[in-house]
Amino acid sequence: MLEVVVLAAGKGTRMKSIVPKVMHSLAGKPFLQHVVDKARHLSPETIHLVVGHGAEAVNQHFNQKDIHSVMQAQQLGTGHAVAQVLPHLASDSTVLILYGDVPLIQQDTLEALTSKVSSDSMGLLTVNLDDPTGYGRIVRTDGAVTAIVEHKDATDAQRAISEVNTGVMAVSSKHLQTWLPKLDSNNAQGELYLTDIIAMAAAQGVAIETAQPAEAWEVLGVNNRRQQAELERIYQREIANQLMDEGVTLLDPARFDCRGTLTCGNDCVIDVNCVFEGDVVLGNGVEIGPNCIVKDAKIGDNTVIKANSIIEESILAAACDIGPFARLRPGSELADGAKIGNFVETKKAIIGKGSKVNHLSYVGDAELGSGVNVGAGTITCNYDGANKHKTQIGDNVFVGSNTALVAPVTIEDGATIAAGSTITRTVKKEELAIARSRQNAITGWQRPVKKPKA
Ligand code: UD1
Ligand code: CA
Repeated sequence: MLEVVVLAAGKGTRMKSIVPKVMHSLAGKPFLQHVVDKARHLSPETIHLVVGHGAEAVNQHFNQKDIHSVMQAQQLGTGHAVAQVLPHLASDSTVLILYGDVPLIQQDTLEALTSKVSSDSMGLLTVNLDDPTGYGRIVRTDGAVTAIVEHKDATDAQRAISEVNTGVMAVSSKHLQTWLPKLDSNNAQGELYLTDIIAMAAAQGVAIETAQPAEAWEVLGVNNRRQQAELERIYQREIANQLMDEGVTLLDPARFDCRGTLTCGNDCVIDVNCVFEGDVVLGNGVEIGPNCIVKDAKIGDNTVIKANSIIEESILAAACDIGPFARLRPGSELADGAKIGNFVETKKAIIGKGSKVNHLSYVGDAELGSGVNVGAGTITCNYDGANKHKTQIGDNVFVGSNTALVAPVTIEDGATIAAGSTITRTVKKEELAIARSRQNAITGWQRPVKKPKA
């Protein structure tokens, strides 16, 4: 049985923030959420969070069944932090210890580490650094790990060691129960060091088996906003690489942001500065122009989204044509070949096959059949100040420019609405509705002239 312990009590002074460090975002979600999500992939029995600074905010966000939060009121060291969880650990579990501010750790690495735990062995994740300053050094005798010495406690010879402790380790609950109560704070920082259990393990003949992350960036921690930005780029570059490997064209992978999951069919092309949030699925041959934001949307084959469009909680079928400068708000559902042009806003709008709303319109709480043409400047007046009402438009309707459709209202199949109309009643099948004042003509009209200056 696996249990995960995530250390997340630190304040993160260098973030200069009232938000606890682990709640700061990477790719749109808290660092700690990344760690918890990775941990969940291992199907642990419980994920224990050691919380302290900003505990309330952390607990509120992670109020889920599989998460158990333990308060560490004072941060007396990493060993003290893990000790807070001891009473809650099953006696026979494997315990994986992670840091809440190390968000890029990968599942394969964690699996490699937990696989090393047995009744007489444990797993320790180490990495070799060109500049190991500040880290705990891995001390080996005849190749076997015998201790970790913190930088501040290390001799010059030990400081020359480039293999360092990442902080991530996996160890049996039984061993933790034996070792943690024996920790003391006789060290340079006066803290209870978790790392001191390594010497205890070695003394007891428990093998310390090391593993290395596939990529050095997996174990990078965040202490300030510069590092946060660096990790964000690493994360985004990885997603961009994955997409390109799967056959997606990114015009510039350095100007691509995914804050969720993006799934693409074959031969999609994504131009620069697009942001994808939540769950986005693109079909085959989808083209997305520059500066688009797409959130929680499904976009069908060969649909083209032109520059500066925003699409949110919407479903688009195949061969739709969107933008530039279109805004599809939640509940927009477009059938094959629909077209939404520039400066058009849709919301809770079902747009039938091949229907077009090309310019400067608002279509909200509406259902349009197929082959409808909505002229420029058409507005569905869906709100009476208290309630929302629906506009129902049949197939092959032609709505002239600058029409106001005062909902609730129905326009039946094949109807035509003259430009500039304000429609308040049903327009029947095949009818022409004209709802505007007649044009008058006054002949020989004299325009006013400017008075001469005194
Ligand atoms: C620790 C390791 C060091 C390792 C380094 C890797 C120890 C003694 N040292 O050092 O060997 O090279 O990480 O980054 O373990 N935390 C708590 N409660 C506490 C103390 C810490 O929750 O009482 C959390 C922090 O918020 C942080 C993590 O544990 O997320 C690590 O603590 P930190 O003080 O940064 O450890 P280091 O001194 O960097
Ligand atoms: Ca410390």
